[in-house]
Amino acid sequence: MDGILSFLSAELRADDTRKIGNIARANLYSRGIHGGMVTRHIISIGDFDRRQIDRLLDNAKRIDAQKYDKNALVGKILATLFFEPSTRTRMSFEAAMARLGGTSISVGSVEACSIAKGETLADTIRVVSGYADAIVIRHPKEGAARLAAQFASVPVINAGDGAGQHPSQTLLDLYTIRQSMKLDGISIALIGDLRYGRTAHSLASALSLYHAKLHTISPKGLELPTSLNTELSEKGMEITEHEDLRDVIKEVDVIYVTRIQRERFPDSASYFNVASSYRITPELLAGAKKHAIVLHPLPRVDEIDPRVDILPHAKYFEQSKNGVPVRMAMLLQVMQ
Ligand code: CP
Repeated sequence: MDGILSFLSAELRADDTRKIGNIARANLYSRGIHGGMVTRHIISIGDFDRRQIDRLLDNAKRIDAQKYDKNALVGKILATLFFEPSTRTRMSFEAAMARLGGTSISVGSVEACSIAKGETLADTIRVVSGYADAIVIRHPKEGAARLAAQFASVPVINAGDGAGQHPSQTLLDLYTIRQSMKLDGISIALIGDLRYGRTAHSLASALSLYHAKLHTISPKGLELPTSLNTELSEKGMEITEHEDLRDVIKEVDVIYVTRIQRERFPDSASYFNVASSYRITPELLAGAKKHAIVLHPLPRVDEIDPRVDILPHAKYFEQSKNGVPVRMAMLLQVMQ
């Protein structure tokens, strides 16, 4: 697998390094022009404004209440290209498509498609654009989804690009928080691998639109990237770094836990230096606000004690279930 991923990396560089370098700062709900037609892509959460997010979450709520057209996407095809493992994102996009009457075609690994034979990502995307009405892509390289959007003639949705962005996860995270409380002014603890965790990056950016107070707790070396910290602070977000969740457990409304992204570490030794350095337990949560909720994008390894699962604070399985209505709303937005 390593050999193939190195090849992918080289192939991306060959396509256009400048474009990759600009990806993180490019507009999210981007539009490409293909044959005079406007193509809508969802690449990063940072390009959604608050009104667009609220509208999408309202649509997801209506879908959740079964108020939607079950034939809305009949005859449409979604292509899911996953060059990294996934359970929730891929299956919930495919479930979302099926619930709207559409069908899905997929590539589940680099080995299973012609990238393994040397085809570039750009060519793969051009070809798949001819088979499907939208493309959902997960890729180990930051910027790959933006690159894909530049070669696609159908909408592209980023399902996670390396340590970059995971916008559909953020939308379902916000949806889940909104089921328990208003988003405005919440106090949230982001715990874990904030350096490589793309879900943490996307969520922190989105919450800057809702005047949230951010408390970060991470093992040494896995802090929120300085560039993101600076960008959010300049937008007026209050960010406080802590060594231990106990320092803020009494004041936060949301405890957002992330897995250490082992696959992004340069070697096993540096991973094992920080592995198992934090764990949410019922004893710890005894000090939390009564209404505080615990979220995790999942999969978890050992960050949350399974005894937490039965507590009213635990919302992470509802959170993963919310992926379906939220992704249905996203598919309707880009495909209708
Ligand atoms: N939260 C998330 O992205 O899960 P998967 O990796 O299973 O898709």
